[in-house]
Amino acid sequence: MAPLKIQLRRLALWLAALLPAVASATRTQPSEDHLVSRRALSKRFIDEAGHYNMSFYHINDVHAHLDEFSSSGTDCPQKEKGCRGGYARVRTVLQETRPSHPDSLFLNAGDEFQGTMFFTKYGGEKIAETLNLLGVDAMTLGNHEWDRGDEYLGEFLANLTFPIVSANVISKNEILNKTVKPFHIFDKYELAVIGVTTPDTADISSVDKDVTSFTEVVSSVQNAIDFIRSTTNITRIVALTHIGYQDDILLAQKTSGLHLIIGGHSHTKLGSAPDAEGSYPTIAQNKDGDEVFVVTAWRWGEYLGYIDVTYDADGKILEYHGAPINLTNQTKLEPELQAQVDTWKAPFAEELAKVVGQSNVVLDQTTCQKQECLLGDFIADAMVASRPKAEIPTFGIMNAGGVRATIDTGEVTMGEVLTAFPFGNSIVELTVNGDRVWKTLEGIVSQVSQTNGRPVTSFVQVSREMAITYDPTAPQGSRLVSVTAEGKPLDREANYRMITIDFLAKGGDNFFDPAFPNFATLKLLEEALVDYIGATSPIDVALDGRIKTGTHRKCKRRRSKTLAPQQVRQV
Ligand SMILES: *[C@@H]1O[C@H](CO)[C@@H](O)[C@H](O)[C@H]1NC(C)=O
Ligand SMILES: *[C@@H]1O[C@H](CO)[C@@H](O)[C@H](O)[C@H]1NC(C)=O
Ligand SMILES: *[C@@H]1O[C@H](CO)[C@@H](O)[C@H](O)[C@H]1NC(C)=O
Ligand SMILES: *[C@@H]1O[C@H](CO)[C@@H](O)[C@H](O)[C@H]1NC(C)=O
Ligand SMILES: *[C@@H]1O[C@H](CO)[C@@H](O)[C@H](O)[C@H]1NC(C)=O
Ligand SMILES: *[C@@H]1O[C@H](CO)[C@@H](O)[C@H](O)[C@H]1NC(C)=O
Repeated sequence: MAPLKIQLRRLALWLAALLPAVASATRTQPSEDHLVSRRALSKRFIDEAGHYNMSFYHINDVHAHLDEFSSSGTDCPQKEKGCRGGYARVRTVLQETRPSHPDSLFLNAGDEFQGTMFFTKYGGEKIAETLNLLGVDAMTLGNHEWDRGDEYLGEFLANLTFPIVSANVISKNEILNKTVKPFHIFDKYELAVIGVTTPDTADISSVDKDVTSFTEVVSSVQNAIDFIRSTTNITRIVALTHIGYQDDILLAQKTSGLHLIIGGHSHTKLGSAPDAEGSYPTIAQNKDGDEVFVVTAWRWGEYLGYIDVTYDADGKILEYHGAPINLTNQTKLEPELQAQVDTWKAPFAEELAKVVGQSNVVLDQTTCQKQECLLGDFIADAMVASRPKAEIPTFGIMNAGGVRATIDTGEVTMGEVLTAFPFGNSIVELTVNGDRVWKTLEGIVSQVSQTNGRPVTSFVQVSREMAITYDPTAPQGSRLVSVTAEGKPLDREANYRMITIDFLAKGGDNFFDPAFPNFATLKLLEEALVDYIGATSPIDVALDGRIKTGTHRKCKRRRSKTLAPQQVRQV
């Protein structure tokens, strides 16, 4: 991606010099990414006639974040620390800016369900009310929309007042069958929006496979494009997808006729932020060598995606302008919607006070960044327990940085659970080779990745199936002394089943390099923990030596001289 980025930046600088008119148009919003499409070079002298401007607002993977939230994604009681997101902020932006962008659409790329108490408590009901109020123009379905099954999804869809598009969903459920359309045509804009949903949904959510199935993405979308092109004069075709950023790029490359892809699913941050994973938009080339613009807006509604495009008569994009809008406390919460959200939220206080079990021991968090800790052991065991048993040796891996607060003895409340694990992370299950496991653990105990040389930013906690011995005084890169999985030494040639969290699978804390490109998100971490507390209450556990320090036997004498405590990582 980097070479493309650099190339584009150079092009932008060059164009800025060459085309002062274009450059000056962007000066009002200096923070925005602004580039002119390569095609503009050859076309920029053509007559304005035939060109058409259109604005797109888009959001994805809001995961029931109806209310504003703190940086960790949960409740934001301490406003002075900076609350973000919330659909009331989205409403403010739409109300303030849409009137001056008359040709605009507000599109939703799926995964409205699952992630906060608004979903746990109200299911889709308040989400549906909010989306209708906001004036969503079209939505595609995310995998989490099936979390309560096909029937329930049908009830939710029946409550929505805008089109639902997904070209690869085939359902016998009566409501899904009549509500979900492959695409929607906005006659006013002579524009079609084709939806598509990750076929993984069948395996990662609660789909009744006898009722609903998913067809292959690329052919489903291409068929819809071909149908639109052969039966209408529409050339402006947008894909609204829930397949993930990498697959959006593949979709762009493998089809013909799309020029804009608005995506979701992978929670990918695009734009100018230092930790962005790509440009906003990311420009790919389709089968015909035409440019396809790929955009997505991270997750939770922390940003509202926004892009203006200028279409030519063939439906190709000549120029664009835009950047995700950062919904910080600088954007006011639209009062009418916020008042509703506050009313819906009132009963949670009770929910947070709910007792989920008992603990006879302090599940300590304070030492998790240095050594095996009790809450680290407990969460890693809960993660493994959330998955069915399997033939292949299994273990759980958790980052110490994801364990945030100690759980005290006595009654354990939902509030404590959510404070200790506030991130709304999901469990993921991956198959990994023993060699990769070894290198990953070596990176963690050496505090530097063995593959990319960058710092590893958290210590590790593991489930009872794994035991690690390492020598903190040995040189970085050779600290790991031994690793066992299910009682046997780690076989660097064998495959293992690793239960971890989405944050780590995506490369968080630099544990896994390269990050895992494709994985399904399973149960929420806090749900797995609540289940495990329920199953094991009253909790009575003790440290059992999963992570120990020791020395490589033959080097013992030399090393004992240079004993130095391991540096404590920042949390
Ligand atoms: C499209 O927008 C650009 C930039 O705001 C403007 O210069 C141009 O005149 C617009 N074109 C049309 C056809 O409205
Ligand atoms: C707004 O957020 C910033 C952090 O992003 C915080 O420092 C500030 O106190 C917040 N302002 C208010 C009025 O809450
Ligand atoms: C649909 O709307 C009805 C009537 O407001 C409500 O009772 C129901 O809970 C809603 N269901 C979903 C899933 O949105
Ligand atoms: C609706 O059902 C018919 C008949 O089973 C099927 O051919 C069609 O693909 C279904 N459409 C959707 C969107 O599920
Ligand atoms: C497409 O455009 C042609 C030429 O303007 C027109 O004759 C035809 O009716 C249009 N087709 C449709 C489906 O609108
Ligand atoms: C968005 O706002 C937050 C809170 O003020 C800030 O931390 C973050 O860096 C901003 N993002 C960008 C891309 O500027």
